[in-house]
Amino acid sequence: DKGTYPYYMLKEIDEQPNVMRKLVKKYFDADGNMNVGCGLMDNILDSDRIYIVGAGTSYHAGLVGKELMEKYTGIPTEVHVSSEFAYEEPLLPKKPFFIFLTQSGETADSREVLVNVNKQHFPSLTITNVANSTLSREATYTMLLNAGPEISVASTKAYTAQIAIQAILAKAVGMRGNRQVAKDFDLGRQLGLVATGMQSIVEEKDKIDEIAKKYFVNAKQAFYIGRGVDYTVSLEAALKLKEISYVHAEGFASGELKHGTIALIEKGTPVIGIITQKKTAGLTHSNLEETAARGANALTIVRQSLAQDGDTFVIPDVDELLTPLLSVIPAQLIAYYTSLNKGLNVDRPRNLAKSVTVE
Ligand code: M6R
Repeated sequence: DKGTYPYYMLKEIDEQPNVMRKLVKKYFDADGNMNVGCGLMDNILDSDRIYIVGAGTSYHAGLVGKELMEKYTGIPTEVHVSSEFAYEEPLLPKKPFFIFLTQSGETADSREVLVNVNKQHFPSLTITNVANSTLSREATYTMLLNAGPEISVASTKAYTAQIAIQAILAKAVGMRGNRQVAKDFDLGRQLGLVATGMQSIVEEKDKIDEIAKKYFVNAKQAFYIGRGVDYTVSLEAALKLKEISYVHAEGFASGELKHGTIALIEKGTPVIGIITQKKTAGLTHSNLEETAARGANALTIVRQSLAQDGDTFVIPDVDELLTPLLSVIPAQLIAYYTSLNKGLNVDRPRNLAKSVTVE
């Protein structure tokens, strides 16, 4: 039931702070010990490479997961689009471990990969929102997102829950592998800060509604740009905008724009820089200025400690690798309000189904 909300998508965006709190409750006990199965952790520790597989938004969550897994477990990690992996399987090492990200647990492209993985007897984990779903039943292990039903076709809370679970898994495995960097990661506290930060962002809806009206409702195209994890969030931000508001959008590595795509920038094209990483903030700012010099409406989603005069939307500071949990939310809301102000059916975009059960 969507209660007083006009659309499920807005309700689901608003639920994100609570989903974070629930995950902390579920995976950390009062003493800060973590509840992640030993068999699962040992299987991952025993592997020589982690493969994260997913489609659409779940794939984008995997791109952040890769950074988390590599930093905290020290195990090389690759992320693949499931429909590509299914028929172009890369050369695998001796002991791969597979992580399937799927909100529904029913995506045919991802299942096709799992079927092949099972044929080769490799261990696997499905991270899903739906207990007893096909991919959950067929994988060796399951971790549940506990995000509550996601009804809107556009995935929002599943993305943030998938990132949070991958952080939990990465820390747990890293600690079991005795890695200092994992022991030092105060994830329980950080996820608490994330929940509070999310809350403050969703309370700024009016501001984002204004941004949507001013820059996006009449736009033919838009760009999100960033570097590192900000680039991965750009991909997700652009997907949201395309999917529900039918504005053609691209997520771009900000340094790559000048190698061709900048030719598309016209007077008034919205270009949003996602700027949360200290070491690349200055670079993305200058890439953004290059687009402004060609007529773009340059906008920013910036973390507090990197904010300057003239930034468009400031998000609170949290651990750098966890910032996608916050930076994606203004982008989800920009897509929502653009769609709403265009009078579209936000929850049921054309040509799409919630769960894609054909290859
Ligand atoms: O249920 P899944 O996570 O496996 O679904 C994967 C994609 O179909 C899904 O994330 C899709 O991209 C969303 N509609 C995006 O908002």
